[in-house]
Amino acid sequence: MTDATIIDGKAFAARVRETVGQQVAALKNQHGLTPGLAVVLVGEDPASEVYVRNKGKATAESGMASFEHKLPADTSEADLLALVAQLNADPAVHGILVQLPLPDQINEAAVLDTIDPAKDVDGFHVINAGRLATGGDALVPCTPRGCLMMLKETLGDLSGKRALVLGRSNIVGKPMAQLLLGENCTVTIAHSRTADLADECRRADILVAAVGRERMVPGDWVKPGATVIDVGINRVPEDRPAKNPDNDPSKMRLVGDVDFDSAVKVAGAITPVPGGVGPMTIACLLANTVTAACRQHGVPEPKA
Ligand code: GUN
Repeated sequence: MTDATIIDGKAFAARVRETVGQQVAALKNQHGLTPGLAVVLVGEDPASEVYVRNKGKATAESGMASFEHKLPADTSEADLLALVAQLNADPAVHGILVQLPLPDQINEAAVLDTIDPAKDVDGFHVINAGRLATGGDALVPCTPRGCLMMLKETLGDLSGKRALVLGRSNIVGKPMAQLLLGENCTVTIAHSRTADLADECRRADILVAAVGRERMVPGDWVKPGATVIDVGINRVPEDRPAKNPDNDPSKMRLVGDVDFDSAVKVAGAITPVPGGVGPMTIACLLANTVTAACRQHGVPEPKA
């Protein structure tokens, strides 16, 4: 059996970002509209700082207006809610993203549900979750949207396929399942309490792994020829002798929720980590911001 096709998320995301750049240029020229994205970071979590920097950079590169708000770690919930209210009212801001996780003194749900649903480019507001579940015009969370784009690019029509979503988070698992249902897949959501998890996985034509447990899915859980989308990003010690000949314990690398080396021998197509789902998430954030700006201004939306 030949190895799986590797789905190149980096190249795909670059194409999406180029398209978004063209859409932004057209909105400026034809409608005098410059989409704007505000990203809010509370505290100094190093990983969040990197994400926020990358989001701001990508926003500016696409020709959109980027607004970054950095607040100290001891910011009160009231102060954060006041900033969100200010951004809700700002006509130059079409998308608002409050980077998660938030410090303990702030109620995450209260903040997410204060964001105007029309500007909720993360798609985390209950209104958008409800619209997605009921087939309405939702803003869709970026990571599942990116996963779906890669699945459609790889497989074309998804109708009738058996899809297994491993993980039930509000950010990835649940919206992913809704999107696959919308594509006429037969969808199972599996999680830590699922009985016979290996057998559930082995039945799936499409396997989306989003549990946050490093290399949890071995190759022999994968149906031969299945398409595997790995959402996991886990830092582990570098255990490949060729990459770490001195066995330096401080050397780390990123791995997914799927054991890539064994799964690539069985799957039909698979996303790598890094370079798979990750780059698509930012590309979809930009696409969501264009969608939000168009809807707010009654301008026809570019096709997804
Ligand atoms: N933290 C990690 N991923 C995300 C994301 O997609 N959106 C937000 N707001 N915070 C995150």
